[in-house]
This record gives sequence, C-alpha cells and structure tokens, in this order.
Amino acid sequence: MTAVDSQRVLVTAGAGGIGRSIAMAFASAGARVHACDIDANALDELRTQAPGITTSVCDIADRGAVQRMVQEATDALGGLDVLVNNAGIAGPTASVADMDPDAWEAVLRINLTGTFTVTQAAIPHLKKSAAGSIVVMSSLAGRFGYPNRSPYATTKWGLIGFTKTLARELGEFGIRVNAILPGAVDGPRLRQVFEGRASVSGRSMAQEEAAALANQSIKRFVDPADIAALVVFLASGAGRSISGQMIPIDGDSQAAS
Ligand SMILES: NC(=O)c1ccc[n+]([C@@H]2O[C@H](COP(=O)([O-])OP(=O)(O)OC[C@H]3O[C@@H](n4cnc5c(N)ncnc54)[C@H](O)[C@@H]3O)[C@@H](O)[C@H]2O)c1
Repeated sequence: MTAVDSQRVLVTAGAGGIGRSIAMAFASAGARVHACDIDANALDELRTQAPGITTSVCDIADRGAVQRMVQEATDALGGLDVLVNNAGIAGPTASVADMDPDAWEAVLRINLTGTFTVTQAAIPHLKKSAAGSIVVMSSLAGRFGYPNRSPYATTKWGLIGFTKTLARELGEFGIRVNAILPGAVDGPRLRQVFEGRASVSGRSMAQEEAAALANQSIKRFVDPADIAALVVFLASGAGRSISGQMIPIDGDSQAAS
C-alpha cells in the first residue's frame, strides 16, 4: 500500500480556500507538497506557515505558465504521485439569456481547459509513479442544474466526463482518477453569499442559511478539512481500487443552492 508520507503531491490553487486545506492535510501527513496559485502573496504566506511546501505562481489558464509550473513542481518533488486539480472559479451570476459571452469563456478557460492543461503536462510524470492518482474538483453543481450559474455548472459537469475518460485512459498505467463534488463549504465566502441573498430577499441571514440547509439531510455545511481528508484517502493506498468515480461530499444535498 502507498503510504501518504512517501507521496509527492501537486495541488493547484493551493494557496487559499479548499486547496490550502488539501495542501496542509497532505503536508501534515508527511507528504511532499507543491502548491501553485495565481496569488503570489498567498503562496508566500503558505510557505511561512508550512515551510516544507514548495510553490509556483501560475495562472492555470496560461498554457506556457502551466508547462513551467509542472516542471518546477516535479523538479522540487523529484517526481509526481498525486495531482489534485483543485483550481476553479465561480464565474458570473446571470441567466443564459443575459450571460456575457466573454465571462462564459473565462470560466471555461480556467475550470475546464486549465484542468486539461495541467493534467496533460502531469501525465508523463504520473506514469512513472508506482501508484499515480488524480483527484478532480467538481461540485454539487456538477450533479444538478444551477440557475444563473451556467458556466460554473457546465464546467463542473464537464469535469465528470473528463474524469471518467481519464480513468479509462490511465488505468493501464496504474493511475486512478476520481472526481469529488463538494456542497456548500463553510467559511467567510458562504457567509457573504447569504448576506448578498438576504440583502436582495429582505430575509435574515439565519433564514437564508436555513433555506440552504433545507436541501440537505445533514444540517451543517461542509468543513474544508473534511474535503481534504477525502482527497488524502482517495490518493492513499486505501483507495487503490477506487477509480472513475464521482464522490459527493455535501451532507446529502438534493439541489445546488
Ligand atoms: N467553496 C465551495 O463552496 C465549493 C463547493 C464545491 C466546489 N468547489 C470547488 O473547489 C475549488 C476550490 O474552491 P474555493 O472555494 O477554495 O476557491 P477560492 O475562491 O477560495 O480560491 C482558491 C484559490 O484559487 C486561486 N486561483 C483563482 N484563479 C486561479 C487561476 N486561474 N490559477 C491558479 N489559481 C487560481 C485563488 O488565488 C485562491 O488562492 C474550486 O474548483 C471550486 O469550484 C468549491
């Protein structure tokens, strides 16, 4: 079985949010971690907090920057066992009828094409691993329709097709590929969403939160540490028979809210 403390891990968008929790969870388990992010200051802060983690500034929508970043990552790590394709942006809120086509394309460039570019550059390195693993960050929005968030939902559904195809292509090389689909994640961003909704609806923050939780069996939002633990498990030897799967982590949500 592959021990996490022998793994070499690349996390995209690893300086903030969920990616940071994932990078820290692998580092805490003893893995060697390289994080890339578009935000250089956040990467500096990450290195201060976790000096063992190496970093690259990279916009995953920039193909040349991705080639350089994957080279830096594999040089720093001495190879690659685990790729966590975490980077993704929320994109605009508008109906399809009113959608700005440039805003639509910007989301596809990062969420879909960026994930493709990073993965393509990483595959030759993962093929050299004894137990390669790729985790793709989809979303609850990759399982349901999501009114006024069409580019986001479209890319998160697209990543499921990407995951299932990659799993078929890479299985013979011992590389497993799985997608995870988090629901609403607890934290300041979610609070801002509720504030925004409350200011439009005239309802209180608590009412907006209750309305969102009404869609879930488990009445709390997802802790980023739980997502990180799932990614560490999937990439570990304990997950060695799991590939081509889409795994929700959302308190049994019945809608994208
Ligand atoms: N937060 C949620 O509720 C939630 C739910 C389901 C899925 N997700 C997915 O999880 C992933 C991480 O979400 P998050 O909420 O932590 O995001 P976030 O908005 O907190 O951003 C995380 C990091 O992404 C970096 N980033 C942004 N654009 C980038 C780019 N072009 N190249 C490289 N780095 C870039 C940012 O600098 C930041 O450090 C995304 O794919 C998102 O769609 C999030």
